[in-house]
Amino acid sequence: MRPTTANLFEHIPIRVQRQLQLLLLVTIVTFSPRVMLSDETGEAHRGQQVYMQCHECHEIGNGATNGIGPHLNQLFGRVAGGIDGFHYSPSFISAGAEGLVWNVDSIAAYLEDPQSYIEGTRMNYPGLRDKEQRDELIAFLRLFSDDSDDLMVLDSYTNEPGFSLDPDVLEIEGDREYGEYLSSLCTTCHQLAGEDAGIPAIINWPERAFVAAMHAYKNKTRTNPVMQIIAERLSDEEIAALAAYFADPQD
Ligand code: HEC
Ligand code: HEC
Repeated sequence: MRPTTANLFEHIPIRVQRQLQLLLLVTIVTFSPRVMLSDETGEAHRGQQVYMQCHECHEIGNGATNGIGPHLNQLFGRVAGGIDGFHYSPSFISAGAEGLVWNVDSIAAYLEDPQSYIEGTRMNYPGLRDKEQRDELIAFLRLFSDDSDDLMVLDSYTNEPGFSLDPDVLEIEGDREYGEYLSSLCTTCHQLAGEDAGIPAIINWPERAFVAAMHAYKNKTRTNPVMQIIAERLSDEEIAALAAYFADPQD
């Protein structure tokens, strides 16, 4: 059942909001989140930056469709050239027919040097030679495939190895409209335009990563006191709703 919004706001009276603002000031002064974040943000999180190189041709995440390249949702375990309705090159079609399936290794090899891995591919991308960046990118891509339910890859969003979360919590479908309503609790600090004054951007995150990060504050694996207080008051449904909204606030 969906909790009423009134409940949530009741729990955050003006007095507490003032305290939060104060806490925030203390946090900025004492811990300098800008520096902290650059050290702490994890592999998949950095992969989101690398993904900018793919962005002009590929879509991924909520409602992704084919563009110049096929969409990349549920990529892991997919047969190469396997999206119905996308016009692949003949080389791709035969690679698929010969049994090429996308997994960590095959994706890494393809991305490193597309033309030599699948000769004649129409993907006009020179290749990503840097192994570290490739690993980060693959960790990011994995968030959009169900095979990442081992949660290992989410560790890099929670910053804490061994972080555990009930997989059911990750599967809750967020009510985007409700999330938009709740988002006013967040946008006093987190600007929709992106990072501001040391407060990180929280838009365009993969939903499951967002949910994992919020629960890491809630169960105190992530230590920021301001966010702990905020996350503590949110139910699983509310977190899912916020994740759905912030994944694509412009929609
Ligand atoms: C200039 C456009 C372009 C860029 C940039 C690009 N791709 Fe592609 N990609 C394509 C096209 C076109 C195909 C289909 C290739 C074919 O049919 O030969 C493709 C295919 C793929 C496939 C195979 C998908 C399937 O359904 O079998 C993967 C995986 C992939 N791209 C990942 C990436 C990643 C990750 C990046 C960023 C590092 C990237 N691509 C950058 C255009 C692009
Ligand atoms: C009082 C200011 C404030 C408010 C209000 C606030 N946050 Fe935050 N948030 C922060 C700060 C500061 C950080 C950086 C904390 C850290 O370093 O762990 C942060 C971090 C985060 C992160 C992790 C970002 C990253 O890059 O790792 C998420 C996700 C997040 N907040 C979501 C929310 C949501 C959702 C709400 C509303 C329900 C919210 N925040 C409300 C200040 C705030």
